[in-house]
Amino acid sequence: AGRDAAPRPLAGRRVLVTSGPTHEPIDPVRYIANRSSGRQGHAIAAAAARAGAAVTLVSGPVSIPDPEGVTVVRVETAREMLAAVEAALPVDLAIFAAAVADWRPEVEAGTKKIKKDGSGPAPLALAENPDILATVARMAAGRPRLVVGFAAETDSVLEHARAKIARKGCDLIVANDVSAAGAVMGGTENAVHLIDRDGAVESWPRAGKDAVAARLVAHLAGLLA
Ligand code: CTP
Ligand code: CA
Repeated sequence: AGRDAAPRPLAGRRVLVTSGPTHEPIDPVRYIANRSSGRQGHAIAAAAARAGAAVTLVSGPVSIPDPEGVTVVRVETAREMLAAVEAALPVDLAIFAAAVADWRPEVEAGTKKIKKDGSGPAPLALAENPDILATVARMAAGRPRLVVGFAAETDSVLEHARAKIARKGCDLIVANDVSAAGAVMGGTENAVHLIDRDGAVESWPRAGKDAVAARLVAHLAGLLA
């Protein structure tokens, strides 16, 4: 007799995950970015696939391998990430774990490297990037049933997360405290709080990013059921 088959609570569901940073080019060799290894987002995509979902992972530049059983779309900038996300819809569940750069250089990067000319750095004017999570959460038609955001905060974690839910229109925020630099960002463990639209908070003990991903996917499958 074989082992029992693994539970597949997301069988028949379509899931979209964003992961990693975005890079916003200043010129062909320089860019603006957020810190992100992609580990948590990739682990969520893998967990959703194991749970039976058809998963599209839209990933910024990362150095970790593609998760198994997942369709991976690689992008560089926030605007490319938004386009790839829109192309992956419709889905039942969308999880926005990417650390999207909030700003990009206002002037489109050229093909020529900017040279130091001895007169000091030129000022770098910035433009705001589209908010991918808010764009999807506020879709009038075809909105995913469940839209989940992440929040990396260094202080007042719950307060900021509640404000983000209200501002972006998502259903749930997974908040982590990144004040212990190096412990979470780039690390293999995570301690998260789940905050919903009613302000209810569930705090999970520190665990490996794979364990957090599996628990999150099980939790979200329960909400969809
Ligand atoms: N996000 C996004 N597109 C952006 C910025 C953020 O999709 N341009 C998503 C992130 O993937 C995350 C959530 O929004 O799921 C919260 O990101 P965060 O950086 O914490 O929030 P911001 O609204 O950018 O606020 P701030 O950086 O000022 O805290
Ligand atoms: Ca941000």
